[in-house]
Amino acid sequence: MVEAENGRRWLRWPSEPERARLAFGADYNPEQWPREVWDEDVRAMRAAGVNIVALAIFSWARIQPREDVWDFDWLDEAMDLLHAHGVAVNLATATASPPPWLTTKHPEILPVDADGHTVWPGARQHWRPTSPVFRAHALRLTRALAERYGSHPALAAWHVSNELGCHNVYDYSDDAAAAFREWLRSRYGTVAELNRAWATTFWSQRYGDWAQILPPRLAASYPNPTQQLDFKRFSSDALKDHLRAESDILRELTPGIPITTNFMVMGETKGMNYADWAGEVDFVSNDHYLLTGPQAQDELSFSANLTGSLAGGRPWYLMEHSTSAVNWQPVNLAKKPGGLARDSLTHVAYGADAVCFFQWRQSAGGAEKYHSAMVPHAGEDSDVFRSVTELGATLAALAPIAGTVRRRAAAAIVFDWESWWAGELDSHPSSRLRYRQEALDWYSAFLAAGVRADVIGVADDLTGYDLLVAPILHVVPGELARRLEEYVASGGHLVTTYFSGIVDENDHVWLGGYPGALRDLLGIRIEEFGPLLDGDTVDLDIGVTGTLWTDRIDLTDPATEALAVYKTGDHAGRPAITLRRTPAGSASYVSTRLGPDGLAAVLPDLLNVSGVASELPAEVRGLVDLAVRTDGTDDYWFLTNRGDHDADLSAVSGDPLPGPSLAQHTTLTPGQVRILRRRPAG
Ligand code: GAL
Repeated sequence: MVEAENGRRWLRWPSEPERARLAFGADYNPEQWPREVWDEDVRAMRAAGVNIVALAIFSWARIQPREDVWDFDWLDEAMDLLHAHGVAVNLATATASPPPWLTTKHPEILPVDADGHTVWPGARQHWRPTSPVFRAHALRLTRALAERYGSHPALAAWHVSNELGCHNVYDYSDDAAAAFREWLRSRYGTVAELNRAWATTFWSQRYGDWAQILPPRLAASYPNPTQQLDFKRFSSDALKDHLRAESDILRELTPGIPITTNFMVMGETKGMNYADWAGEVDFVSNDHYLLTGPQAQDELSFSANLTGSLAGGRPWYLMEHSTSAVNWQPVNLAKKPGGLARDSLTHVAYGADAVCFFQWRQSAGGAEKYHSAMVPHAGEDSDVFRSVTELGATLAALAPIAGTVRRRAAAAIVFDWESWWAGELDSHPSSRLRYRQEALDWYSAFLAAGVRADVIGVADDLTGYDLLVAPILHVVPGELARRLEEYVASGGHLVTTYFSGIVDENDHVWLGGYPGALRDLLGIRIEEFGPLLDGDTVDLDIGVTGTLWTDRIDLTDPATEALAVYKTGDHAGRPAITLRRTPAGSASYVSTRLGPDGLAAVLPDLLNVSGVASELPAEVRGLVDLAVRTDGTDDYWFLTNRGDHDADLSAVSGDPLPGPSLAQHTTLTPGQVRILRRRPAG
């Protein structure tokens, strides 16, 4: 096992513990195939350079076909076979999907939706995170696997459950109600304090006893917003508690084996507060699937970047992505040539030391038979498998990258799950606001400027960044307001946007005018929000157009100036973007949604104010996505062409790393990646 500087652990590479290498592999589901196919599998894995697989993720019904019947023979054989072929295993606790005998005997483990409907078995992950009955069965299985395989030489890591919360994050059952009450009791101590926090004087909601409190089930109108926010916090915590319960057993029985679980930092998956979960695992793992649309590539980069921050800037494990099409979008497009390598290497650029796929061999039956895999339906004689093999050779050549860490950027985007949750609650000025989209738009603007920005959690260390953009930072408890004030006082440049600084941790509005908690720092005051109807726009005097939101801003501090003014709309003539300079730093406010293009036009001014500059030559700014890893001596510049025309990198010096999927020439075609080893200046 490799002990990282910050105490995080990495894979225990069974056969060659000291060798630095990137992990490469997939979810492997041998139980879906006849035994003879397994020999084909391990042969092809070797050919492709696969060195690790995730095993037994959905194998509960196979391992434990009845309550007191266990069948480990097939798994013993699979583990031995993989080990004999030099393939390590990240072994699942197999608890992700309960078997039919369990749900038949104990239907009380099934989740219940907000309307009171039971979520029946038939798909997967049909379990209540708070069910004591489910927990007992899951822990029994976890213990059985740890006892049987804890000292197996193939075992490199434990994989707790799978994508916790993918389908079952919100459960409104009676078990959930009981656990929610306990959670509230430890948060608030007394019912009186809960009444205060939930503002239950409103709509006659005052509680007299814990037993009266319910999850926010289907109600006649908007459920209490603080109740909704707390239920989101509780639901994330309930799954985290399950992760902890399985991990405790694994740590007790196999202390030398690192533990992970696959997060889903991607798209609109928002139920799990991963910034809060990251400390629970020995190394962070993520699943990411490329979405469709004009910002798909930026979204991948954004997600990988944020995952890197969850990992503390240290390497993390890409547990799943796809070689080509998925099966769960309305229309599932195959990746274009080069897409598989580009997506994989973008994750590596942002810190992944493992590149894995769902799944090894494409299923012939079941709900995911049209989801791509490393070995597609067409077999090894296919472009997909050839691309997989080429990627395997590339990752083998990139061994010097293994263990390198992120070189911190000068700018950062602050990402906050609480603001995501609270900002998008119902009964707000606009139901159209999208927290993650706004953050992504800023990220695209940084890419367009050719300026690296880390995507960091709100609890991360903010000092050291010259520029912080905190879009829609809706929830600002007093302590966070103080941190931001200190940040600016010590020379930092803060940018925030519409609907920021509005509420405290209880979702209570900071009074006296918006943006309450940040009003003085920004030197502005807003009396009323001005959300826009769909299709309505406002022009700004700097040539950009806003949608979604406007604010009627008064400048309240002589040091605050308008960087842009509304030309049209209800607030024509009033400030749209403001800047308050302080002796050492500054605080800016953007009061409308400008989208990626509008923000790209505005960001250069904000960069100028903060002194943050691009590290790239002018001719490729905006055209390449730059990520930097470092081994402490040398930097590794990952340059990915994100545009639709060639990028001339002749002005970027450094030694190119070899690898069949990597550009060796200074001309980078669209989607191509070039990695340069460089000695940092100074
Ligand atoms: C993940 C899941 C995998 C597979 C994959 C398909 O959500 O962990 O088991 O379903 O998506 O994209």
